[in-house]
Amino acid sequence: MKNIAIFASGSGSNFQAIVDAVQARLLNANISLLVCDQPGAYVIERARAANIPSYIFRAKDYPSKEDFENEIALLLKNRNVEWIVLAGYMRLIGPTLLKQYEGRIINIHPSLLPDFPGKDAIGQAIAARAQWSGVTIHYVDEGMDTGPIIAQERTRLEEDETRESLQRKIQAIEHKLYPSILQMLLTIGDVKHDEKTGAY
Ligand code: GAR
Repeated sequence: MKNIAIFASGSGSNFQAIVDAVQARLLNANISLLVCDQPGAYVIERARAANIPSYIFRAKDYPSKEDFENEIALLLKNRNVEWIVLAGYMRLIGPTLLKQYEGRIINIHPSLLPDFPGKDAIGQAIAARAQWSGVTIHYVDEGMDTGPIIAQERTRLEEDETRESLQRKIQAIEHKLYPSILQMLLTIGDVKHDEKTGAY
């Protein structure tokens, strides 16, 4: 079973969906810890309730992004974290963590990327009067919501769609899609493969 760290900055409804999926045995992973960059974030309460240790790192307490990420990287190494799952973590991942976790950092974003990257993707879709929006799960690279796409699910915007109604639709998708895609990604390497016969 893989050890994962969840990074979050806000309310943590996706964090909760992942915790619930692990408890329901729909997701075969060990949530080692939460990394949060916002001391007042509600996700910290959720972690406490789920008995998951949380670690708060404030970027402004470090002289550089490299120092900030080095400290996080050290913690993750000490706790044998194998994958990083971003769940509403509103900060770009820098070269320090990208190098240590190459190909093992995943993000969820509330739009059909490459449409509406960055902050307030839901507000951007409403403002653009888009006909469709949705959810993207992707590998993280150095860009803003630019890494290779793993999965997308779309939803149609009604004529009278509001930010609140779209957010509800998108979150409902996120809370199902993220755990199921994580289950696929995290268990691929667990399948035993017999080198001699080729059988699985
Ligand atoms: C989610 O909708 C997630 O897709 C989004 O932040 C929200 C966090 O909600 N992430 C981004 O916009 C990343 N660019 P939550 O705290 O309730 O999980």
